[in-house]
Amino acid sequence: MNLGRTEFGDPANSGNTLSEAEALALLQDWVPNERLQLHMRQVGAVMKAWALEMENLPEAVAHQWWLAGVLHDADWEKFPDAHCRVIIEELERRKIDPAVIRTIASHGPAHFGVEPGTAMEKMIYVFDELSGFIHAAALIRPTRYEGMDVKSVMKKLKTASFAAQVNREEIYDAISRINTPLEEIIIFIIENQDAIV
Ligand SMILES: [Fe+2]
Ligand SMILES: [Fe+2]
Repeated sequence: MNLGRTEFGDPANSGNTLSEAEALALLQDWVPNERLQLHMRQVGAVMKAWALEMENLPEAVAHQWWLAGVLHDADWEKFPDAHCRVIIEELERRKIDPAVIRTIASHGPAHFGVEPGTAMEKMIYVFDELSGFIHAAALIRPTRYEGMDVKSVMKKLKTASFAAQVNREEIYDAISRINTPLEEIIIFIIENQDAIV
């Protein structure tokens, strides 16, 4: 749904987060679907790894990247028609850092009407669909992520019938907004989400 606004949270709450245990408890509570939970934990892991390794951000900031990733679809299962308004309002009620909330609001500009601005916002948009796509590619391989190469993923992206629900246009649009080529992003995802199963 279009959120109808582009500002989220209260700047006075800057620095407030949920702990890892609190975030995972929310996930457990709101997302009974284990596949969806896995998708969210994978996006969280890739976001955190990117913050630490590519943006050289401190652990506390990388935790915010993780939090946005791990909660971005928290309301999808129970409130599909109000995705992602419900989780955003919940995090505003819990006085979470506005940067985290706006990042969640940025994970699908065509759906939510929020254009990604910061690096954290742009990267959640980049990782969301691609992460799910690469996981779908891993599931059909006997060795899963082990030995998966970027060329086979690129080929599957061009095969419309494979993981047809994944919107290729969104992937290419997200990539066009950053300075890292698609191939490098794919390699980064393969390397960083294989531990999350
Ligand atoms: Fe979503
Ligand atoms: Fe997602």
